[in-house]
Amino acid sequence: MGRILVVDDEEGVRSFVAESLQTEGHAVSQAASGEEALDMARQGSFDLVITDLRMPGIDGLELLETLRGEQPEVEFIILTAHGNVAKAVEAMRNGAFDFVQKPVSSPGELRLMAERALERRTLKAIVENSKRDHSQPKLDYGAPAMAPVVDAIRKVAVTEATVLLVGESGTGKEVAARAVHEMSPRAAGPFVVVNCATLSENLLESELFGHEKGAFTGASTRKRGRIELADGGSFFLDEIGEMKLELQAKLLRVIQERVFERVGGTRSIEVDVRWIAATNRDLRARIGEGAFREDLYHRIAVFPVALPPLRERREDIAPLSEVLLSQIRLDLKRPNLALSPSASKLLQQAAWRGNVRELRNVLERAAILSDGGTIDAAQIFVEPASFSETVSDGQTLQELERVAIERALEATGGSRKEAAARLGIGLRTLYDKLKRYD
Ligand SMILES: Nc1ncnc2c1ncn2[C@@H]1O[C@H](COP(=O)(O)OP(=O)(O)OP(=O)(O)O)[C@@H](O)[C@H]1O
Ligand SMILES: [Mg+2]
Repeated sequence: MGRILVVDDEEGVRSFVAESLQTEGHAVSQAASGEEALDMARQGSFDLVITDLRMPGIDGLELLETLRGEQPEVEFIILTAHGNVAKAVEAMRNGAFDFVQKPVSSPGELRLMAERALERRTLKAIVENSKRDHSQPKLDYGAPAMAPVVDAIRKVAVTEATVLLVGESGTGKEVAARAVHEMSPRAAGPFVVVNCATLSENLLESELFGHEKGAFTGASTRKRGRIELADGGSFFLDEIGEMKLELQAKLLRVIQERVFERVGGTRSIEVDVRWIAATNRDLRARIGEGAFREDLYHRIAVFPVALPPLRERREDIAPLSEVLLSQIRLDLKRPNLALSPSASKLLQQAAWRGNVRELRNVLERAAILSDGGTIDAAQIFVEPASFSETVSDGQTLQELERVAIERALEATGGSRKEAAARLGIGLRTLYDKLKRYD
């Protein structure tokens, strides 16, 4: 239910409109002039303003323009006398949702229109939220393994090509999807996300495509889908590997033909969106299992980008930890949080099966345990990496040798003799190497 302001200098019209909407459960206020409406709107917060066009003093158009500037999220419906449709159309060009001709004959039409306007208001709020979602994190923290990835993302972003982001859980697929949008010519448009794994099939379908009133039990009003909402912007299909086959067919059609119908509807709706998809599944294997459509795969895998797991870009761990820590400082209001060298070292050597998401969780937990001061090793709970996992591409043999020696010494509690035995070298050789590596 919405908060609605009805503005008309004619008392009769005003109360008829107000009562029609009140019976639906909306909270309706009334204003007898543009001036009064402006005052009220500035004090309270309304979702929808239904206003007459022609009024002495501040008229409907001026009210629309002024409030649009101050509260762009508020929706407008224009009431207009017969023969004044041109003005109403001008109002719509200035952002009004729709117009109703006076005399208003049916309360039903009015209610339906108000319903739709309120729904658009809600959807706008969803888009706003997904846009605001703090500043865009960067992708490049210097790890050589990320360089070609960042380069590919930068190049594909400016095109209209569908991007498929593939990577383990927590590698930053959503962060990368936003980066594609932000670096694209559509950056000023909406970025809409739907996670295909978290909604049931029916719910997902009506979230994506919307539905007409009465399309199924519980569809008491018409609802616009998220795809419509992404018009002019980018649409991020997260966890696309979880989408059911039947829905995949419908999705394929929108991607190919740029048109779709709402659930229970017959009218074709055209959309202009750029598609970005992500999965942590092997979609080829899903095709083999008969769980993913091959034709859809070819549509979305035009430009696949693989995000490397954190253990393959260990150079990123330190700078990423700093970035995450500065977020945690703000979130927990602990400006003095810092990492001790021993804690940093543990982070550097962990397995990170949960990737960046796990890194953030580990830091947050440690921050809480440290009471907001310096985090040390005792507060870092991580699974250490196996030797092969600590090795990243492009390391020299010397670097590997050094890691092997460090590991052996840790495992033997610092006993050089035992460490030498583990490494299969003589004690003298170990001493030489220790001296060389300092
Ligand atoms: N480059 C980055 N800079 C800063 N934070 C990052 C970066 N990459 C990932 N993160 C953070 O790590 C967490 C996981 O990232 P994201 O949600 O993008 O990963 P994902 O691959 O979509 O994971 P999942 O498969 O679990 O949904 C988020 O909290 C995100 O903010
Ligand atoms: Mg994700």
